[in-house]
Amino acid sequence: MDVLIIGGGIIGLSTAVELAKTQRQVGIVEGGFPSTATPAAAGMLAPGAEQIPAGALLDLCQASLQRYPTWIQDLEERTGKTTGYWPCGILVPVTSQAMGYHRGIWLNRGELDRQQPGLGAQFQGGWWYPDNGQVDNRLLTQVLRHVAQTLGVHFFSQETVVRIEPVGDRITQVVTHQASHQAAHYILTTGAWTQKLLSLPVHPRKGQMLALQAPHAPALNQVVFASAYLVPRRDGRLVVGATNEDVGFQGGITAGGLHSLLERAIHTYPPLQDWPILETWWGYRPVTPDECPILGPSPWENLTLATGHYRNGILLAPITAELIGNYLNGQPWPSELDFCRWNRFASSLELL
Ligand code: GLY
Repeated sequence: MDVLIIGGGIIGLSTAVELAKTQRQVGIVEGGFPSTATPAAAGMLAPGAEQIPAGALLDLCQASLQRYPTWIQDLEERTGKTTGYWPCGILVPVTSQAMGYHRGIWLNRGELDRQQPGLGAQFQGGWWYPDNGQVDNRLLTQVLRHVAQTLGVHFFSQETVVRIEPVGDRITQVVTHQASHQAAHYILTTGAWTQKLLSLPVHPRKGQMLALQAPHAPALNQVVFASAYLVPRRDGRLVVGATNEDVGFQGGITAGGLHSLLERAIHTYPPLQDWPILETWWGYRPVTPDECPILGPSPWENLTLATGHYRNGILLAPITAELIGNYLNGQPWPSELDFCRWNRFASSLELL
């Protein structure tokens, strides 16, 4: 193999597709961890609505958002399948215009009602982000896997990686419970599980989620993002998220988590209180101390890092794949992305 990617979530899959397009022999080793961030996400493409402060991370998110239409078009044309990509805009209703540091278009209450009838009476107005949107992250994952397979990417599935073995400043192999794998280059895309292999400060941040079935499709005209976010799929399913809990890998739907989610969702959009619950689930966001991802070179010359995308992994997938692809093609790591390098947190790293 030319490249072995450790981790089969959205970042690993997107990077595999990008690299396989240039004739590289690519493998993905994936442990089959439950509750990874990729299937748990809501798929919002929301640099504005997430209120990311102005600066380097917002620039990266905006750059990735701009790549989405062509990135999706290519994936859908290669497979003939939909990803549910929908640049539907995101509406952020607020109780006071002074709240937050929004850069959207201000809608007063009358305009808000025209944009989305039925919102809670507490809202004074809302911020409208017409260029934000959503993708169905589960469909997108299927499409990416399909494209990867078509391009000859080899999946080593249900193989839990035990360790990454170095000799000097090079990685020589990746050892799993079943086998060991060698490649010229390795890419770490292990998200919330990164600390099982490498001493990087990436921690799990649990999110509980649920889905409702609206009596009409779609449930809302666009994504609505208030104290809960409401993401309407085109088929009438409404994805509602999310809790944000610092509880390690403590899984499960809790009474308190579900209660808070439902309370916030009903407060935001009261009509949904009558809709049936279809599903509940949870996942672990990979968070870093500064909430920015860890991208780029590592202390080992043939190990590249792409992890810690926290709340924005679905959004950042296209730009992450492109950056890692450029870097493996011999381009220097861009200095404006130094804010993503691992050494902002530590002076050395240990393989565990
Ligand atoms: N991006 C939404 C979330 O992480 O909950």
